[in-house]
Amino acid sequence: MKTRITELFGIQHPIIQGGMHFVGFAEMAAAVSNAGGLGIITGLTQKTPQLLANEIRRCREMTDKPFGVNLTFLPTVSSPDYPGYIKAIIDGGVKAVETAGNNPQKWMPLLHEAGIKVIHKCTSVRHSLKAEAIGCDAVSVDGFECGGHPGEDDVPNFILLPRAAEELKIPFVASGGMADGRSLVAALALGAEGMNMGTRFMATKEAPIHDNVKQALVAASELDTRLVMRPLRNTERVLRNAATDALLEKERTLGAAIKFEDIIEQVAGVYPKIMKDGAMDAGVWSCGMVAGLIRDVPTVKELIDRIMAQAEDIIRKRLAGFANA
Ligand SMILES: Cc1cc2nc3c(=O)[nH]c(=O)nc-3n(C[C@H](O)[C@H](O)[C@H](O)COP(=O)(O)O)c2cc1C
Repeated sequence: MKTRITELFGIQHPIIQGGMHFVGFAEMAAAVSNAGGLGIITGLTQKTPQLLANEIRRCREMTDKPFGVNLTFLPTVSSPDYPGYIKAIIDGGVKAVETAGNNPQKWMPLLHEAGIKVIHKCTSVRHSLKAEAIGCDAVSVDGFECGGHPGEDDVPNFILLPRAAEELKIPFVASGGMADGRSLVAALALGAEGMNMGTRFMATKEAPIHDNVKQALVAASELDTRLVMRPLRNTERVLRNAATDALLEKERTLGAAIKFEDIIEQVAGVYPKIMKDGAMDAGVWSCGMVAGLIRDVPTVKELIDRIMAQAEDIIRKRLAGFANA
């Protein structure tokens, strides 16, 4: 399939794997890129720029296809060494960067001078327009369904994507709730030129995470996610577990007075325990409503081939049939 997104990133299928903390290692990104999508290494999971440089090198050993790096700009006081991470990306010859969180304007000249295409993840039309204005090459439009941080506007993709299509000139992918060929065709119908998936890619053979996480995704339904940290205006969609319940109980009892320090036990440093050790109640972890559409753990190639075959089938048979009728 050819869209402005496949052209922009030099990929076969319009499918991107979004950055995922402690999931987006070289193995994940290389598997997606080898299957014809755009795999993304999660920059900040690597503690130092030097470690990111190693991870990029490892990924290049596993694939000769294009892959990208996610840079999440956190609103934290002690900022990570972003110049160092960007240098590792440029020196590593990476040609695609997925930015998220704060506006990446400051880093755009550096990235563009190195020939890097930038796709910024946004949860609103106004942020998407800002991304376009500062020179981003594409946007990942992240609806309310998404795993991770859906922002504070709560607009689901059935509204957000056509609104983005009305306003944007640069291409965008649909992100949040995407799982299969139906998702891809729907995303294209609503104006997107591809899709970004997070949660669905975790339930694959190559995802370098504990099998407990994959089985939790297969077992979960679309009713099993919760929004946490809303009172802190740092809303995150996570899978319901004991830590989620404990965190929500604190939100209920502390109300507007709640501070980050109050929930540190549930959120800080929990990802390795969950993703590596499979300790499923060790803390809260990002998960999309799309868990309700995940029923198996295929290889990444099986997943992507299945998505593309189903999408082509829907377009050629189901939709063409309606048009002729
Ligand atoms: C476990 C997990 C960790 C994530 N970590 C990050 C991250 O570090 N940076 C980021 O920009 N997005 C992160 N995301 C969001 C994904 O990149 C993607 O936007 C989101 O998962 C899309 O929604 P979906 O899960 O419904 O596919 C994460 C998502 C998950 C499920």
